[in-house]
Amino acid sequence: MEGAGLALRWALWAMLLTPFPGGVHGNWMWLGVPSFGPPEKLGCAHAALSGRQRDLCKKKPALLGSVRDGARLAVRECRRQFRHERWDCPVGAPPAPHDPRPPFGHQLGSGTKETAFIYAVTAAGLVHSVTRSCSAGNMTECSCDTSLQNGGSASEGWHWGGCSDDIQYGMWFSRKFLDGPTKNLTGKDGKGLQAMNLHNNEAGRQAVAKLMSVDCRCHGVSGSCAVKTCWRTMSPFEKIGHFLKDKYENSIQISEKVKKKMRRKEKDQQKVPIPKDELLYMNKSPNYCVEDRRLGIPGTRGRECNRTSEGADGCNLLCCGRGYNTHVVRHVERCECKFVWCCYVRCRRCESMTDVHTCK
Ligand SMILES: *[C@@H]1O[C@H](CO)[C@@H](O)[C@H](O)[C@H]1NC(C)=O
Ligand SMILES: *[C@@H]1O[C@H](CO)[C@@H](O)[C@H](O)[C@H]1NC(C)=O
Ligand SMILES: *[C@@H]1O[C@H](CO)[C@@H](O)[C@H](O)[C@H]1NC(C)=O
Repeated sequence: MEGAGLALRWALWAMLLTPFPGGVHGNWMWLGVPSFGPPEKLGCAHAALSGRQRDLCKKKPALLGSVRDGARLAVRECRRQFRHERWDCPVGAPPAPHDPRPPFGHQLGSGTKETAFIYAVTAAGLVHSVTRSCSAGNMTECSCDTSLQNGGSASEGWHWGGCSDDIQYGMWFSRKFLDGPTKNLTGKDGKGLQAMNLHNNEAGRQAVAKLMSVDCRCHGVSGSCAVKTCWRTMSPFEKIGHFLKDKYENSIQISEKVKKKMRRKEKDQQKVPIPKDELLYMNKSPNYCVEDRRLGIPGTRGRECNRTSEGADGCNLLCCGRGYNTHVVRHVERCECKFVWCCYVRCRRCESMTDVHTCK
């Protein structure tokens, strides 16, 4: 009966789910949260997918695993990049039937810099995981980049070989899965937010493309590296996350009113074109200091802070001036280990005390 109860829970939740402001769905991102539903339930009818995403899934069922992996990659990276900040990318509790919530709470639809980062990193995560799957030979639609199979430079002693990542299919899939058909984005009623989200999706994908690099392996007698085999590869996702975090910090505020196209908010900058790889936001962020359940903001009470840091993780900034509590935490570990002939290791038990500070 457990299974039926769960299915009912999903169905109820799907029905109750309020239409999302801005129209671009983010609920698929729940797939990246480990506590969200048992993995064997993963199928195209999954409640986290929108109708359009389900149709696409039915055409390409092999990709659902990559969709989940991409969401996981993105959620983990968001948590890592923001672990020292007041907003530490809280995903929120998985939705209950009578309390339908999008992932990331209000931040997914708030049009802030945080919204921008979430959309960019998830779109990038999808490109990354789908491309990995292509390179692993798991897909019939895509594989390694065959255009690089031959060629290179004999005089410089290298040639293309191995499997070069081909991100084209991943880029296509990420667009198809997330962006949907490009609609008329001018006018009012949240269309500005939708245009912003679509732009940030693309900026995330562009980050994956921009950070492609070349790896080589040496051959030749005793590691002389007389000949090298090289292949194009995506950067580790951590690097892409770091790059997008930088974009987040330098993101561009746009005007809420989108007439023909998006424009910068600053009056004297409105003619300056908006590059497609920059992140855009409309609304200023809240300070994230105090809990606001309605907006899905947990606040910083209880967060661990660093007493000596001047940065965002310092007690001053993180605790918003409320001060902090200090606890002494005792650690016991094995230490001064010695190898004893023959054959075991003998250690001592060492105790140490550290101060841990948490925000009031
Ligand atoms: C490719 O498929 C195999 C077997 O299904 C799976 O174990 C592996 O994780 C897949 N790799 C990627 C990158 O999707
Ligand atoms: C887009 O929508 C606006 C207002 O709804 C309308 O005035 C405009 O003609 C539409 N543009 C296109 C290309 O359909
Ligand atoms: C606290 O911040 C200081 C200065 O930035 C740094 O050197 C130290 O490693 C940090 N401590 C912890 C526990 O992160």
